[in-house]
Amino acid sequence: MSPVWSRPGHTFDTSETHPLSAHAYADAEVFANELRRLFAPESGLVFVGHDAFIPENGHRRSDADPRLLLTRDNGVVRALANVCTHACRPLVSDDAAVPRSRVACAFHDWSFRSDGSLIGGRDVDFGDGDVGAATRRRLALPSFALLSWHGFHFTVDPQRIDDYTADLARVDADFAERGIADWLDLDDWVVFASQDDPYRGDWKMFLEVFGDCYHVPPYHPGLASFADCDSIEWTFGENFHAQFLQLSRQRGNRSPRYAAWADGLDLYYRLRGEPAPHMAVAWAGLYPNLMFEAYNGMRMISIVVPVGPGEYVNRAHYLVPADMERLVPGLPQTIKDAYDETVLEDRVLLESRHDGLQSAASLGLDLDRYYPNLSGRALEAGVAHFHDWWTHRMA
Ligand SMILES: [Fe+2]
Repeated sequence: MSPVWSRPGHTFDTSETHPLSAHAYADAEVFANELRRLFAPESGLVFVGHDAFIPENGHRRSDADPRLLLTRDNGVVRALANVCTHACRPLVSDDAAVPRSRVACAFHDWSFRSDGSLIGGRDVDFGDGDVGAATRRRLALPSFALLSWHGFHFTVDPQRIDDYTADLARVDADFAERGIADWLDLDDWVVFASQDDPYRGDWKMFLEVFGDCYHVPPYHPGLASFADCDSIEWTFGENFHAQFLQLSRQRGNRSPRYAAWADGLDLYYRLRGEPAPHMAVAWAGLYPNLMFEAYNGMRMISIVVPVGPGEYVNRAHYLVPADMERLVPGLPQTIKDAYDETVLEDRVLLESRHDGLQSAASLGLDLDRYYPNLSGRALEAGVAHFHDWWTHRMA
């Protein structure tokens, strides 16, 4: 019996899904198509950055796409091309936050306002009157339509803004239904750490692992004794899947780090004088490449950045409650250490799929490339849903 999830505007019938073929992975032509159809600004809904990493008044390079620049001026965030209109060099070549709304090119001192309009360039005259004004307009930085949601900013296909807004509202509804609507807001959270982890393989493998709860009980002793996979609830929208897991009664007892996380939470909530939530984690994968992980005690914003057909980087941001370190000194680090234990385990899982696919291909084996487990609690429903999304978008 294949499970079906149905809600207004979106039905996910697992019996109609097919795993991706071997040709979909680590292939130069497919990769070029993906960049165009899935990752180009305005091709769909593509994450470019979160408020937590954009200066209050200023600019920085996009967290997810180095070809883009994000500016914020009096609360208005914009996505602009990170390409100087003088001679196409990147305007910003690192991720530093620049606390100034004017964007300047270091090479010839051309500069732009936060809306992309051209201020001017060193010793250059664009002409007077209408001709000069038209030239300046032509030399403005191109900007892209943006959709913002709980401080997350996405470039969006302007023709489909309503569809994407409705889909993000489904995520809101799923969190609200479980009493954790506020877990999507990061206003009282601070960035504790950020890191870039390079991986061997196809970027889609990271999303597969994100949508696979099947490997958690046998493979992650710490995580599996902290979050109870038997309690899993799946939700789906057109462009996302989410998993909700309750805290396990084992209290992380299969790993000292996870046990310390569970104990630390008890103390933290006691000191705050509030009841401890029962939810362990809500994992939301927003395709193509954003993963928001709302743990009890930590939030993760992870972005898979494709680098090449067999290479990608996972950029991970760790956020903790602003008062956690003060109330329970060391707890943010304890939680990060536990999470990183799982990350290390997952690296093997991720890269071994790449290696196995290569072996199967070189042996000339005609294997199913993935047989997602959709029986019982359908612990790999997220994999099937992601494959289905990819197939439709790439068709
Ligand atoms: Fe894992």
